[in-house]
Amino acid sequence: MSHELDLHHWHLKIDAESIAWLQLDCADMPNNVLSSGVLSELAEIVDLLENWIESNLIVAIACTSAKTTGFAYGADVAEFAQFESATDVRKAMAEVHELFDRIEKLSVPTAVGIDGLCLGGGLELALAFGYRIAVRDRTKLGFPEVRLGLFPGFAGTARSIRAMGGLNAMQLMLGGGMISAAKAKSQNLLQRLVDDPGQLRWSLRKALLSGAKARGPRPLAEATSLPGIRHLLARTMRQKVSAKANPAHYPAPYQLIDNWTTAGADAEQLKVLEQEHFPILMVGDTSKNLQRVFFLSEAMKRLAKGAKPVKRVHVIGAGVMGGDIAAWCVASGLSVTLQDLDPEQIEKARERAQKILKRKLKSATLARNALQGLVADVQGKGVARADVIIEAAVERLDVKQNIFSSLEANAKPDAILATNTSALPLEEIAAQMTQPERLVGIHFFNPVASMPLVEVVKSVHTADEVLLGALGVVKQLGKYPVVVKSSPGFLVNRCLTAYMFKALELGQSGQAMTEIDHAALSFGMPMGPFELMDQVGLDIAASVGQNLGYEDGAVADLLRHKIESGKLGKKSGEGFYQWINGKVQRQPCNCPEAKLDELAQKLLQPLIDEARACVAEGVVESEDFADAGLIFGTGFAPFRGGPLHYAKQQEGAA
Ligand code: NAI
Repeated sequence: MSHELDLHHWHLKIDAESIAWLQLDCADMPNNVLSSGVLSELAEIVDLLENWIESNLIVAIACTSAKTTGFAYGADVAEFAQFESATDVRKAMAEVHELFDRIEKLSVPTAVGIDGLCLGGGLELALAFGYRIAVRDRTKLGFPEVRLGLFPGFAGTARSIRAMGGLNAMQLMLGGGMISAAKAKSQNLLQRLVDDPGQLRWSLRKALLSGAKARGPRPLAEATSLPGIRHLLARTMRQKVSAKANPAHYPAPYQLIDNWTTAGADAEQLKVLEQEHFPILMVGDTSKNLQRVFFLSEAMKRLAKGAKPVKRVHVIGAGVMGGDIAAWCVASGLSVTLQDLDPEQIEKARERAQKILKRKLKSATLARNALQGLVADVQGKGVARADVIIEAAVERLDVKQNIFSSLEANAKPDAILATNTSALPLEEIAAQMTQPERLVGIHFFNPVASMPLVEVVKSVHTADEVLLGALGVVKQLGKYPVVVKSSPGFLVNRCLTAYMFKALELGQSGQAMTEIDHAALSFGMPMGPFELMDQVGLDIAASVGQNLGYEDGAVADLLRHKIESGKLGKKSGEGFYQWINGKVQRQPCNCPEAKLDELAQKLLQPLIDEARACVAEGVVESEDFADAGLIFGTGFAPFRGGPLHYAKQQEGAA
């Protein structure tokens, strides 16, 4: 039977057994998101369903998605910006709370079928239904809201705690990650699993016609919300969160813990607290800046739109970088040949690759199997078949020039030819090539496995299609690309070096190193500049500094003095700090907050100035991409939205 609603995002039908089948299918979108349009149509549908139930037209309701990517990815973040005040947010939230409550109260059995991702608002919607079935190996569920400085706001805090028990639900919401369908079932977030998407409809029908309904959490999980246990667990949660996030910078997880501490498993009270606090977070600076980071990351991924996927990679140089790049390519599902003059280097790289693969694939067996895709290739036989060749040999112009002259002659005509150089101008590397437009930079950061950013470097010659190909490779490797011009230090090293040398200058003028590092940490940087230099290696920091013109004077002498006395940082066991078993020995700092703030401003100003200069000189295309590059490349305090955004906000506030 059909109906008279004019729906754009949903399909609705009643079948021969009087089950109403509701299917989410966001118009003009590859994935489902709960935009205001989707929710207002859902409200009309619920009106109709209530009528149908009253007239005995339907006996049950099933809800699925028409997209192959999953059920729903969450609320529509693009709509968040339209809210100007917490009151606006609260009003919109109240409507959704009421709508989901009505779904929950429908007097016939209701069930959701999930095949793929079910995240944030999508999971909150699923939780309003009476029963949840998912496809086993394809489904993942989660609440990513903390990453946007929020927690679930469509009654998800209440319903997840009710379904899973306090501890499980809080872990899911505080972690911001995803869990598998099997784990979700064991925690009562799902009630049944099927092996194949084709079984979903049948399984939903069976569950609905037998009146299946989700039970509450297992008694043990439920007990975690009892006052005594809850207060103890909440204390541990606060400690765990505080190791990662400062409450002044990231208030959402702390507020979520407070809500649970106050309300426990009382769903109605949790909903009230959610509606009270979520709106304040959503219009606050942290969430707005994290929303900005989300959009920047999307913009970076879009850079690769239209690029042809690659299958075979050839890496030249099996040292620190080449070895890890090769491992990362294999871990991302590509076939890799790895070339080096020294076969021992390849062997060592394969040993490291085994560890990287194990960490990424989370299984020793899968890692062992995947390692077979990393082929030692001393003679460079892989060159002729590769879709992309990444050169990471020693940083010497003559070596790189020779390599690319030979590659040009032997590689496929459309293979992407990329260098990982960090300091040599691409124009010079390409000087002996007959087609210099074929050369592009794909500049990874060390350590490759954990650094999310890759700079894609264009020379004055680089052809647009070559650049696009390189952006595609970076995206395929699950990294974020930023396009930069071939110029000293590109974007990230140039800005970071300015910041490190400012720290040295402050240290040279008598400021305590511990205070400088604490100032950076309290600003929100992932580590202080002295610890960073120790990590990078003082010899490398000095050489990067020298390339960028920081070679003279007492400041550079400070580094030179350390290097001459064998103190190279983490790798030698001592630099500015002592390192024991690879762990830095930090010292406490009792410096007052105001002084740390003042120090942080001084420390970060050169980084901001360099970022501005990079935009002005066209090293990076826009302020947004400069911010994105520096957040993903240096860990610049994400909740501040990037150095240039931060500077603008400061100027606006002054
Ligand atoms: P490395 O010294 O660890 O490794 C270089 C490898 O290249 C050695 O195994 C060497 O045997 C091999 N090699 C030298 N000439 C070769 C040739 N003609 N053919 C094949 N293999 C050859 O150097 P690392 O640190 O891995 O650096 C490699 C490149 O990556 C350099 O251009 C460097 O500037 C760049 N880079 C380095 C970073 C770092 O943190 N180490 C970060 C980003 C870029």
